[in-house]
Amino acid sequence: MLSTKLVCIALVSLAFGQVYLVASEETITLCPTNFTQVADKCLLVDGSWKNFYESDRHCRSLNAGLLSISNPTEFNVINEWLPIIAPYQPEFWTSGNKLGGTSDYYWQSTGQKAVYLPWSAGQPTTTAGDCLTLMANVTMTPEEAILSVHRLTVKPCTQWAPHICQAPLEIFKTQLCLNTTAFFEAKIPV
Ligand SMILES: *[C@@H]1O[C@H](CO)[C@@H](O)[C@H](O)[C@H]1NC(C)=O
Ligand SMILES: *[C@@H]1O[C@H](CO)[C@@H](O)[C@H](O)[C@H]1NC(C)=O
Ligand SMILES: *[C@@H]1O[C@H](CO)[C@@H](O)[C@H](O)[C@H]1NC(C)=O
Repeated sequence: MLSTKLVCIALVSLAFGQVYLVASEETITLCPTNFTQVADKCLLVDGSWKNFYESDRHCRSLNAGLLSISNPTEFNVINEWLPIIAPYQPEFWTSGNKLGGTSDYYWQSTGQKAVYLPWSAGQPTTTAGDCLTLMANVTMTPEEAILSVHRLTVKPCTQWAPHICQAPLEIFKTQLCLNTTAFFEAKIPV
């Protein structure tokens, strides 16, 4: 709060040597360029085929990480979004894995143990690999391919798939700093 006020004071006094007034204060959320807000985080689908490690590197190059899933609400919102953003794409790398000889799965991007694991039926087939994709079943009809909900499936980390990167929502507080005829906006990370 103190630094917020200082920014407003500095802006106004620099320009006019005047007193200021905080006219309104509002919290806004933003996602990085090309990311979309989904549930309470920012997601980006990359359709190029890469293995788990390359996909992880790509997300990191965007100051992001591969997808993690923390609860059913988030899982459902992601599954409502995927058919819109990538209608015919059945599989995506997540950050989930049990690399390093652990028997538990971890979300590599958050470092958290994966507690909520929405498996596909018959999964996890732990001998199939160490990394997790979100995978849908594809039903072919004469007219189109119909995708089921995407659920977690074990896959060898060196195989290829598209991937989903996640970045945290950026939360700002905006303040309008007024004199009688002009206002200034300051964005301050919360
Ligand atoms: C956003 O996506 C466009 C089109 O793919 C790309 O050219 C641009 O570099 C991306 N911007 C960032 C900041 O990644
Ligand atoms: C995909 O199909 C298999 C076999 O019918 C089924 O066991 C599994 O639950 C399905 N997965 C999804 C995500 O619907
Ligand atoms: C308010 O700001 C404007 C600049 O946009 C300036 O011209 C004006 O003198 C200021 N008024 C007061 C009362 O400070």
